[in-house]
Amino acid sequence: MTSIELSPALAARASAADTLWLVTGAAGFIGSNIVETLIRLGCRVRGLDNFATGFHANLDEVARAVGPAAWARMEVVEADIRDRDACTAAVAGAGIVLHQAALGSVPRSVDDPITSNEVNVGGFINMLDASRRAGARFVYAASSSTYGDEPSLPKIEQRIGRPLSPYAVTKAVNEIYAEVFARTYGYRATGLRYFNVFGARQSPNGAYAAVIPAWVQAMIADQPLLINGDGETSRDFTYVGNVVQANLLAALVDEPSSADVYNVATEARTSLNQLVELLREALAELGVRYLRAPDHGPERIGDVRHSLASVAKARERLGYAPTHDLKAGLAAAMPWYVAALSEKGL
Ligand SMILES: NC(=O)c1ccc[n+]([C@@H]2O[C@H](COP(=O)([O-])OP(=O)(O)OC[C@H]3O[C@@H](n4cnc5c(N)ncnc54)[C@H](O)[C@@H]3O)[C@@H](O)[C@H]2O)c1
Repeated sequence: MTSIELSPALAARASAADTLWLVTGAAGFIGSNIVETLIRLGCRVRGLDNFATGFHANLDEVARAVGPAAWARMEVVEADIRDRDACTAAVAGAGIVLHQAALGSVPRSVDDPITSNEVNVGGFINMLDASRRAGARFVYAASSSTYGDEPSLPKIEQRIGRPLSPYAVTKAVNEIYAEVFARTYGYRATGLRYFNVFGARQSPNGAYAAVIPAWVQAMIADQPLLINGDGETSRDFTYVGNVVQANLLAALVDEPSSADVYNVATEARTSLNQLVELLREALAELGVRYLRAPDHGPERIGDVRHSLASVAKARERLGYAPTHDLKAGLAAAMPWYVAALSEKGL
């Protein structure tokens, strides 16, 4: 069963939308959760991915979870968003585009800014323009990294600073393009600024893994944990179910405002030191005991010190109502991690 909860009204609206949904980045963490939710609601979905950081296993898992009859409504297209013609072909016949494909991770963009730019900016404008030409509604994954060096908390949409990493530049440029497309063509794209998303199918592997899956993996394997810096860096950790909800709301809102952006988060701030303890508790509930104290390393380049969102705008204009805070989200996600990581023999 999925732990993604939608209000009955939103579920009914999504089920009733007689359209083809295109989800880019469908084999990734967030994309596969969107796909699973849409398929369960009876929607027709086309998923595009080049499997750069996403996995066939994620889609296989969704296929198994929803069953063959429901999975028959899913079409998987293996393509690269840097290929303009592939974007045009993928959008054909789609009424709604949920654009998640990108190269995530601040450190990845520090190591290879060119590829992050090609995919996150070049690929983005390919999808945006193809969607505009097709007349499809466009909702895209923006990022809290756009707040950059703006110090005020909580983060409100109109007050942003200068980007602190190449990744943050790419996400800020997405928003600028969306704004210019609204002004130039009257085309209304909606950006959702996600704040540190976590949940099932988020990869724990590799140098660019996000903190929650990487630490859960280390804890299950009884390995040491490394905190970058003193651990007082804080984040508004957001369960993926809230992100799926925001995508559906933005896609189905009656009249989208012009090139709008919305924070998608939970309005709570948790330090990395607190996170370690919450993960320990969530794992202990499943019988996994982790007793080590974390190690501390240097701060990471490009990282924002504190992050906490106001979601007032999404609440007021989209009807966004997060269903899971960090603790509830960890309780929902942890069984998946324990099962997935134990399967791999860790
Ligand atoms: N996870 C977070 O905390 C977070 C926070 C803010 C924003 N975002 C954004 O949300 C979106 C989804 O992120 P995610 O966490 O699911 O990451 P992910 O890496 O799991 O998913 C991204 C997907 O995009 C695909 N992709 C990458 N390059 C592609 C290309 N050139 N052509 C086609 N597909 C390509 C990958 O294969 C992958 O399946 C991204 O746009 C990311 O920047 C994520």
